[in-house]
Amino acid sequence: MIISLFDVKPYDVPAFERYAKEYGAQIKYFDTKLNVDTAALADGSDAVCVFVNDDVNAEVIEKLSACGVKVVALRSAGYNNVDVKAAYKKIHVVHVPAYSPYAVAEHAMALLLTSVRRIHKAYNRTKDFNFSLGGLTGFDLHGKTVGVIGTGKIGKLFINICRGFGMNVIAYDAYPTAEGIDYVDLDTLYEKSDIISLHCPLTEQTYHLINAKAIEKMKRGVMIVNTSRGALIDAEALLEGIKARKIGGACLDVYEEEADIFFTDFSGHILSDDVLARLISMPNVIVTSHQAFLTEEALNNIAETTLKNVSSILTEGFCENELCYHCGNIEHCKKERKNRCF
Ligand code: NAI
Repeated sequence: MIISLFDVKPYDVPAFERYAKEYGAQIKYFDTKLNVDTAALADGSDAVCVFVNDDVNAEVIEKLSACGVKVVALRSAGYNNVDVKAAYKKIHVVHVPAYSPYAVAEHAMALLLTSVRRIHKAYNRTKDFNFSLGGLTGFDLHGKTVGVIGTGKIGKLFINICRGFGMNVIAYDAYPTAEGIDYVDLDTLYEKSDIISLHCPLTEQTYHLINAKAIEKMKRGVMIVNTSRGALIDAEALLEGIKARKIGGACLDVYEEEADIFFTDFSGHILSDDVLARLISMPNVIVTSHQAFLTEEALNNIAETTLKNVSSILTEGFCENELCYHCGNIEHCKKERKNRCF
C-alpha cells in the first residue's frame, strides 16, 4: 500500500518507518499540509495520512477521490478537520481513537502545576542566578474544585490525577456515562469551579463553548486549561477575561487559529496574530504548541494504529476505527451494530 503522509515532522518518521516494514507500506512524506492546492500530491496513493491542521474539506475529498485515494487516515483522535459527511460513500475515514490518553491528561496537569506554582517564572529566574521569591506565591490544588468538561478517555484520566491531588471534582458531559463522577450542569460547573479543564471534542455544539457569557458565570480568578481543541474557547473573550482579572490564569495547548502557527519555528519573526501574541505576553498564560500528545509511547501507537487502520480497510474493507457522520448516533450508527460505515 502507498500512503501519502502530509504535514510530516521529523519526530513522526522513525515510528512510521518502523511499522511500514511490518505492514508492507510505502510512505511518501510531504511537509506541506493537505489542502485543495496540495491534494494532487496524493495521486497514485491508496491512502493519505493527515494531522490536526490538514484541511480535509469537501473539495479536498473530491480531489483525493479523483486521484484514486481510498482512505483518509487521521493520525489523531479529533477529526473536526475532516468533512466526514462529504466523505461518506466516497472515501473511508479512519482515526486513532486513543494513542495515549495518559500523555494528554498528564500534560494538562503539567500545565496546571506549572501555572499555579509559577514554575515557568522560577525556571527562568534561577537560570539567571536570581534566587528571589517575590511574585512566585502560588496556591494549593488540594481542596480546590476542578470542573472537567468531557469525561471520555482523557477527561476520566485527568479526573483520577486531580483526585490524587485531593481536589474536589465536578464534571459536565453531554452524554454522561462514566460511573462515580459528580455530574452537574454547565452553569453550576462555571459557578463552582476554581479550575476548568476542557476534554470534549470540537463540534458545532462546543464551538466557542467558553465565550464571554460563560466567563461571566465563572468564579473570579478561575484557571482555564485547554488541551482539547482551540476553538472550544473564544480567544478574544479569554483575553478580555484575563485583562479584566476575572480569569486568574490560562493553560493552553491548543489555540483557535493555530493551524498556520503551531508546529513551526517563528522565532525571529513578527507574529501576525495579535490575540495570540497578547495572550503569550500575559504572566498568567502558558502556551504549548499542541504538544500534549507528544510522548514516545503515543508516537509509536499512532504509527502502528494508523498503518493497521489503512491495511484493514484496504484488505478487509472494515476497520473498527472507521468514522462517518453517523458514528455515535445510536439510531443510525451501523458500526455499533458491527457493520461497516458504508
Ligand atoms: P473521548 O471521545 O473519549 O471523550 C470525549 C468526551 O466528550 C465524551 O465523553 C463525550 O460524551 C464528551 N462530549 C461530546 N460532546 C460534548 C459536549 N457538547 N459537551 C460536553 N462533553 C461532550 O475523547 P478523548 O480521547 O478523551 O479526547 C478528548 C479530546 O481531546 C479530543 O476530542 C481531542 O480534541 C483532544 N485531544 C487533544 C490532543 C492534544 O495533543 N492536545 C491529543 C488527543 C486528543
